[in-house]
Amino acid sequence: MKTITLYNGVQVPQLGLGVFKAAQGEETEDAVKWALEAGYRHIDTAAVYGNERSVGKAVRESGIPREDVFITAKVWNSDIRAGRAEDAFFRTLDNLQTDYVDLYLLHWPVEGKEYAWSQLEDLYVQKRIRAIGVSNFHPQHLEELMEQARIKPMVDQLESHPLMNNQELIDYLQANEIAVGAWSPLGGPQLPLLQHPVLLELAEKYHRTPAQIVLRWDIQRNIFVIPKSTHRERIISNSEIFDFELAEEDMERIRSLDRNFRVGPDPDNFNF
Ligand SMILES: NC(=O)c1ccc[n+]([C@@H]2O[C@H](COP(=O)([O-])OP(=O)(O)OC[C@H]3O[C@@H](n4cnc5c(N)ncnc54)[C@H](OP(=O)(O)O)[C@@H]3O)[C@@H](O)[C@H]2O)c1
Repeated sequence: MKTITLYNGVQVPQLGLGVFKAAQGEETEDAVKWALEAGYRHIDTAAVYGNERSVGKAVRESGIPREDVFITAKVWNSDIRAGRAEDAFFRTLDNLQTDYVDLYLLHWPVEGKEYAWSQLEDLYVQKRIRAIGVSNFHPQHLEELMEQARIKPMVDQLESHPLMNNQELIDYLQANEIAVGAWSPLGGPQLPLLQHPVLLELAEKYHRTPAQIVLRWDIQRNIFVIPKSTHRERIISNSEIFDFELAEEDMERIRSLDRNFRVGPDPDNFNF
């Protein structure tokens, strides 16, 4: 598994399994189990997904040593606003039944983010978290955070797929040594992105699925990517992206599909 090295030296497996909207219980447990069997070593969950217990259970039952699986978790907005990031973190540890998290993120840039960040910094210094970061932060949110921060975020996780590649923001973050994770890389559950004629054409050219083409594009943009599926065949095929390479002209063709078309909320204008 290829990795992205964060500025503090921690390595993030470039492919992870997302579990947003996977139900607590069998659905999440099976998805994580199949992913680990297929070679994934990175699981992306969050308190608000309501399935941390199942993620922890599946990781434990896999028999794979805890230190070989990279777990990302996120503190939800209500806990950030209420100044309860530390309590939320220990709840997450309890749900996961583990004593540390690999990457812990502020889920959205809501009011109270500066204080929440100081709590994450303390937990990081205490080695309860291997890397700390943010999600859905634009440059101005990072600047606000950095006015009081002691530690620069190591990661920003954001929406990125061919119809909304967010490349300008990604370039900004990478220039500032902040690693990038792409959410909804396949366009999320609603968008018929994988039927796009250009992706179908490239799929035929490389003898791959459209999903594999998109995920490979992400790997070559040096970001990490966390596609979600609860279907075994898709989980397996989404991982088969490390044995081929897209030509630069095809990278560019996918890049040119950008329409600034969001499938998720705009970090500058959301109400939850
Ligand atoms: N930080 C944030 O604010 C944030 C926001 C959104 C998401 N995320 C994270 O990012 C992860 C991924 O984003 P996402 O779940 O929104 O969307 P996504 O991974 O882009 O797409 C998931 C959808 O694509 C389907 N799918 C997966 N593989 C496929 C394939 N090979 N062929 C056809 N369809 C396929 C899945 O269906 P099936 O499950 O039925 O296979 C599901 O409906 C989330 O699970 C979550 O961990 C983070």
